[in-house]
Amino acid sequence: TDPATPRRPGLLLTRRYPEAVEARAVRDYRCTPRTEDAPLNREALVREAAGMEAILCAAGDPLDAATIEALPASVRMLATFSVGTDHIDLAAAGRRGLVVSNTPDVLSVATAEIAMTLILMCARRAGEAERMLRAGEWTGWAPTQLRGVTLEGKALGILGMGRIGQALARMAAGFGMRVHYLNRRRLPPAEEAGARFHADEREFLETVDILSMHIPGGEATRHWLDARRIATLRPGTIVVNTGRGTTVDDAALCAALHSGHLRAAGLDVFAGEPAIFPGYLSAPNVTLLPHLGSATEEARDAMGFRCLDNLDAVLLRGEAAPHRVA
Ligand code: DGY
Repeated sequence: TDPATPRRPGLLLTRRYPEAVEARAVRDYRCTPRTEDAPLNREALVREAAGMEAILCAAGDPLDAATIEALPASVRMLATFSVGTDHIDLAAAGRRGLVVSNTPDVLSVATAEIAMTLILMCARRAGEAERMLRAGEWTGWAPTQLRGVTLEGKALGILGMGRIGQALARMAAGFGMRVHYLNRRRLPPAEEAGARFHADEREFLETVDILSMHIPGGEATRHWLDARRIATLRPGTIVVNTGRGTTVDDAALCAALHSGHLRAAGLDVFAGEPAIFPGYLSAPNVTLLPHLGSATEEARDAMGFRCLDNLDAVLLRGEAAPHRVA
């Protein structure tokens, strides 16, 4: 190499990323896009990080404490292609002095759209109806067939009123829904989008017709939706989750769906993805999506560029990462 050319920092790409993102990464870093899009296991991740300054990683990459401790000393930063960070042991990253950045904001509307999609599919039984059609079981229009519920006038309960919850609140207002939210703190009125704050969890759960979950994963929220809270929901409530699968006690949710206490559930995220808790597969009133929340061309490009903006700040300019989480 030409000694006058500064050595570009090495960047490990753990997955295939959108074309425009990989093109910019290859232009500015010493990196090789992967040819296959299978997640790297722990050993491969550590091995391929040899000589790298940073890792562009994604949800599902096994960045637990043992992996982080085994990373080569050259690695200084993890830029995750996600807003969620529950796949990274942030305490271990902190002990190693690693900078960790994520991708807030740019996926909020896309993820809220998937929450709205699931709400509509559950309320209008769209998944069940489509499966019936494909199975050749439709016998023609009938006055009593596949009646769902209309959204107008219904109470939507948003659990976790961050950026995604706020985007959903704005969309729900357009459907004529009454929006309620439960959050650690009340938002300034300008960010509430007309939604009503509840300080009391029980009152919130007893109020809603549809519960949409937007809380992060991790130990603190594990099985937040348990049998006790499900029992507090009124009969006929719909539950939608686009946050993290670990926040739901699957056995308890399945039991309430099979018993008919809950009308329906729409799930985009699962504990132990890509495995699906078997009880969901046999419940006609469950709509299942394969973690589509941020899966739009616009959001995925923007997420990748946000990762690279953070990497550029730290590795190319020696500045602070604008979206540093640890
Ligand atoms: C996120 O950004 O956290 C999405 O769930 C994709 O991992």
